[in-house]
Amino acid sequence: MATRRILTDGDETLRKISRPVAEVDKRTKILLDDMAETMYKNEGVGLAAPQVGVLRRIVVIDVGEGLYELINPEIVSSEGAKIGEEGCLSIPGRRGMVERPAKVTVKAINRKGKAIQLTGEGLLAVAICHELDHLDGILYTDKMIEDVTNKEENVK
Ligand code: NI
Repeated sequence: MATRRILTDGDETLRKISRPVAEVDKRTKILLDDMAETMYKNEGVGLAAPQVGVLRRIVVIDVGEGLYELINPEIVSSEGAKIGEEGCLSIPGRRGMVERPAKVTVKAINRKGKAIQLTGEGLLAVAICHELDHLDGILYTDKMIEDVTNKEENVK
């Protein structure tokens, strides 16, 4: 496993549309391993492949309940709405309020090439939506209702 460099806002790769994974091969598994390591090292709760410069539809998420690896993820249903605070490893030092569905169900394939489905609420729903947006070149700041970067509790 290896840590990969995270691209930051302003890099045009972050604005491109990622392509689906046609076949889960050895390279895909290495990428998944590297993405998880990179996410944990940087204390993130999610990471999308374009953030490490790979324009493939792959995300990893861990909001504290274990690692989820999603290949070719697609949201199949969502309900409710909730406004919460978000940050992004590609936009270091900033925080903002974003409205997301309260609950989402996503279908994807796992590293064994098997179809899986995942339903998330709260932080997991936020992470799923945030990471899937990266696959379409969208950053949370595009949807931000309020920039809270300089709010007292966020100043370090
Ligand atoms: Ni992000």
